[in-house]
Amino acid sequence: MTKKLFIRTYGCQMNVYDSARMADVLAPLGYRSVPSADDADLVILNTCHIREKASEKVFSKLGRLRVAQEAKAAIGGRMVLAVAGCVAQAEGEEITRRANNVDLVFGPQAYHRLPEMIAEVARKTGTVLETDFTVEEKFDALPPASATGPSAFLTIQEGCDKFCTFCVVPYTRGAEHSRAPEAIEAEARALVRTGAREITLLGQNVNAYRGIGADSAATLAGLVRRLSDIEGLERIRYTTSHPRDVRDDLIAAHGELPKLMPMIHLPVQSGSNRILTAMNRRHSIEDYLRTVEKLRGARSDLVLSSDFIVGFPGESDADFEATLDLVDSVEYAQAYSFQYSPRPGTPAAMLDDQVAVPVKAERLARLQERLNHQQDRFNATMVGKTIDVLFDRPGRHPGQMAGRSPYLQAVSADAPESIYGNIAAVRIDACLPNSLAATLVDPRFATELNSSANAA
Ligand code: SAH
Ligand code: SF4
Ligand code: F3S
Repeated sequence: MTKKLFIRTYGCQMNVYDSARMADVLAPLGYRSVPSADDADLVILNTCHIREKASEKVFSKLGRLRVAQEAKAAIGGRMVLAVAGCVAQAEGEEITRRANNVDLVFGPQAYHRLPEMIAEVARKTGTVLETDFTVEEKFDALPPASATGPSAFLTIQEGCDKFCTFCVVPYTRGAEHSRAPEAIEAEARALVRTGAREITLLGQNVNAYRGIGADSAATLAGLVRRLSDIEGLERIRYTTSHPRDVRDDLIAAHGELPKLMPMIHLPVQSGSNRILTAMNRRHSIEDYLRTVEKLRGARSDLVLSSDFIVGFPGESDADFEATLDLVDSVEYAQAYSFQYSPRPGTPAAMLDDQVAVPVKAERLARLQERLNHQQDRFNATMVGKTIDVLFDRPGRHPGQMAGRSPYLQAVSADAPESIYGNIAAVRIDACLPNSLAATLVDPRFATELNSSANAA
């Protein structure tokens, strides 16, 4: 008998990956994904703890789900409600205290045991809590992955030993842990067999990847080379890199492997050395700029994106100006920026010199204005160029298909539906607010488009 599964994913790409793997684990039990929680038999909230706003979302969602749960119970059914992910890991006890409609709470290292946990929920009353970090290999216990579209995520490294003073990840994901290259290659091949054309390798510190056991000398560059040989895999990306771990072999790989996409997400967080030290980032602005220069030297069309935090405790006007200066000297293609959010249990949350919220808000607005300009400027350089797009969804308007450029820009063009899952050449015509408008020029599909236009 099929059961309805609804997973809501918050936070980073690793959570997206984890949600896909939870669906893989549950499929043999008859669970099929449905687009709404309303009459689902099992609802999983896969949560994020990175900033206060992210984790508060969970509690309001739990409140709203109570209505659907009661409606289902009224007709004799049951909606099992589970909280997974980083809030579950960090605040498991608090969830069971604050929300009595939750049946199951489990952390990122426990989801391969979902079948047992669900059986336990059915057997007993009260909440089942699974937030131990176990030493067993979660990845070995998972069934083979299958792609849900042309672009897939693949976790190669999980956890973090860096302990930046603002960050909860070392506490929610545990210690840094790499997977074996063979297991990764097998998963990549399974993803390609089931339709993936692009794979993004994931890790909280993806470039600290170092294999395991006999392969513990493996590197991210070596892994990318190995995956590059997989026929049918056209694009490889990796995220998130730490500036301290960008090694020369990885830089060289960017110059040598055409499948490795020319965009690197290299979060710098701040442009002030004083703040970087207080953040425990363990690199300087000078180190960062040297790395950027080397990357661009290896591949001239390589572009950068970054994350920034404004209003870290003790950040002065001068520190913030240094961040703006850094942005000016790097020229980012894209970036994410956030107000510092004090997180329980992290060292920075305990510091006295917290920056006032209005100051953080004003700095964030100024930074975002500058970053948006850079992004617009970069997008404008694309107009008139012919670039490859991996088409992975219908466009907004009838007759359109959409996808991503090598630089992760959203691009849409009039195209036949058969282009789905293909990489095809387009000419960029214009920059729209959230995407690039293009004309299909790839002869394989442009012909098809013209003939269907003639037929109509
Ligand atoms: N693994 C990634 C970070 C994941 S969190 C890395 O090491 O870069 C994504 C981003 O959230 C971080 O880069 C940082 O900019 C932001 N972030 C993390 N903790 C934060 C906090 N306490 N307040 C505001 N932003 C934070
Ligand atoms: Fe968090 Fe720093 Fe680790 Fe990134 S490197 S996950 S910001 S502790
Ligand atoms: Fe959030 Fe956990 Fe990812 S805290 S950013 S979901 S690692």
